[in-house]
Amino acid sequence: MPDTLICSYMCGIVGYIGRRQAYPILIGGLHRLEYRGYDSAGVALIGDDGALNVYKTRGKVEALEHFAASKDLSGCVGIAHTRWATHGEPNDVNAHPHVSQSGDIAIIHNGTIENYHVLKEALLAHGYSFRSETDTEVLVQLIDYIGQTNGCSLFEAVQEATRQIVGAYAIAVIDRKEPDRIVAARRSSPLVIGIGDGEYFLASDATPIVEYTDRVVYLNDDEIAVLECGKPLHVVNTKANAESRIDIQRLKMSISELEKGGYPHFMLKEIFEQPKTVGDCISGRVAADGRSVVLSGLVENRERFMAAGRIIIVACGTSWHAGLIGKQLIEEFCRIPVDVEYASEFRYRNPVVHPDDILIAISQSGETADTLAALELAKSKGAFVFGICNVVGASIPRATDSGCYIHVGPEIGVASTKAFTGQVTVLAMMALALGRMKGTVDDDKFTRVACQLRDMPSLISKVLKLDGRIRELSKIFTYAHNFLYLGRGYNYPTALEGALKLKEISYIHAEGYPAAEMKHGPIALIDNEMPTVVIATADSIYDKTVSNIQQVKARGGRVMAIVTEGDTTASEIADYAIEIPEVCECLSPLLTSIPLQLLAYYIAVNKGRDVDQPRNLAKSVTVE
Ligand code: G6P
Repeated sequence: MPDTLICSYMCGIVGYIGRRQAYPILIGGLHRLEYRGYDSAGVALIGDDGALNVYKTRGKVEALEHFAASKDLSGCVGIAHTRWATHGEPNDVNAHPHVSQSGDIAIIHNGTIENYHVLKEALLAHGYSFRSETDTEVLVQLIDYIGQTNGCSLFEAVQEATRQIVGAYAIAVIDRKEPDRIVAARRSSPLVIGIGDGEYFLASDATPIVEYTDRVVYLNDDEIAVLECGKPLHVVNTKANAESRIDIQRLKMSISELEKGGYPHFMLKEIFEQPKTVGDCISGRVAADGRSVVLSGLVENRERFMAAGRIIIVACGTSWHAGLIGKQLIEEFCRIPVDVEYASEFRYRNPVVHPDDILIAISQSGETADTLAALELAKSKGAFVFGICNVVGASIPRATDSGCYIHVGPEIGVASTKAFTGQVTVLAMMALALGRMKGTVDDDKFTRVACQLRDMPSLISKVLKLDGRIRELSKIFTYAHNFLYLGRGYNYPTALEGALKLKEISYIHAEGYPAAEMKHGPIALIDNEMPTVVIATADSIYDKTVSNIQQVKARGGRVMAIVTEGDTTASEIADYAIEIPEVCECLSPLLTSIPLQLLAYYIAVNKGRDVDQPRNLAKSVTVE
């Protein structure tokens, strides 16, 4: 691929057709989808006068609103897009929608057209010229060319174009000559259609749709949908060349879940939601007396889990950190060996996968491209694939044999918080339930841990009361340029997660390390300028962690320690201590991670960072 290609990898797309004015609905939808990318935004409307009006600009959706404010925004049919640039600078020309040379057709696209180069050559030979360097513009010209040469409808042209393209796409297309329809198609990128009263909504996920209707259809790969005002939804599977059955599902999301609810940022709201979200996650699964834990995905596949020779966990980012905790939980309670892999590494290295292996894919969004590809690879090698996801109906849960939702509600802040604690909660429940099935956990231990899981919402509420203290401490650390986070055992992954949170939103360099590894390198960095955050809760290796704190202090380092209530040793040696309630070691990350979330949050706020939309990041990474 030449370097000049501007792909449309990770984006949010939204569409509307009906009797209402489309523009406000589209803009509202883009705001909801902005977590998917915020480098440029654009909208295409078929105006009341029949003209195709396209407005697009570099920057966030707000910039688009300013830009479009004085323009003709009329029309009941429209599509809109928010983009996360992977190749090349995000600018006005490369922003979506892209328009065909004829000026009739506009397209928005999330995905990558891999054979765009060959198609572009062919279109150039047919007299087409290109304004941008995007693969998407090639696609809209191809649709235009097919339509003009064959004299066919927009639907037929899109259908033929999807046969010719290689790659991933979710697209929505409108044509000035067919002003009463939107044609949408997908392969490997998500697309949801909302069914209203004589109107249709279209989006990358359900968040822009939920305030208008709770009836949705998730498009499947290779399906093309025609959305016509007042007419039934028409969906065709291009591969099977057959009409698809329309499977209307009810959304369980509520609008309040998508609002900040009085908090200054979604991230803070999501941190404070954790007593509720962990409560929702265990609800109906952990018995009130702590004597049983039931996960239907495990019960239904009991034989498969009982026969598992090994479990492989694949994930990215924060979900990978949850996976590291999952490994310790499953090995401790179930005595099954667990490997935890970065999905992006696993998928490209011809891993050994046996048919009796179980692969667990952990993903908040359920859309992360590497995680999806890793699970497809394991599936092709005969493994049973299980998902731990948040977004209901997303690609990963749809591709797995079975799974377990974390049920924490929409997570909108780009830095993951409540999804992490939801994932760890599900992994703890899995370890308990599977350990019970296998007879590898005794009843006393089972009940003790299950009761603490049951009580977790109130324990988390207690930790959240430390908010004011952490806000004060954050002021001391705001101007550090580097941070070290240390933890052992179950809290080594927590240290990694704490460091990641800080990096993501404050742009301060931070490293997470197993505390004992510090002496093999990072210790050389320690001085008065670099704060060290140590998780030193009362566990089986507490004394060792205390020694690590002493090593930092002996070299003039400043230490902030997360300790258990009543601690005297670590808190005395450390410069600052945060006390959290006592909890068993295996569940402690559910509490220790929370002060680290708050610390990262307040440092980022002190530095004036864009907490919910940090630079260069996107929440749903559908790029390889
Ligand atoms: C992005 C997000 C992270 C997230 C990771 C994996 O990098 O910014 O917060 O942990 O993707 O996402 P997933 O949806 O698969 O959990």
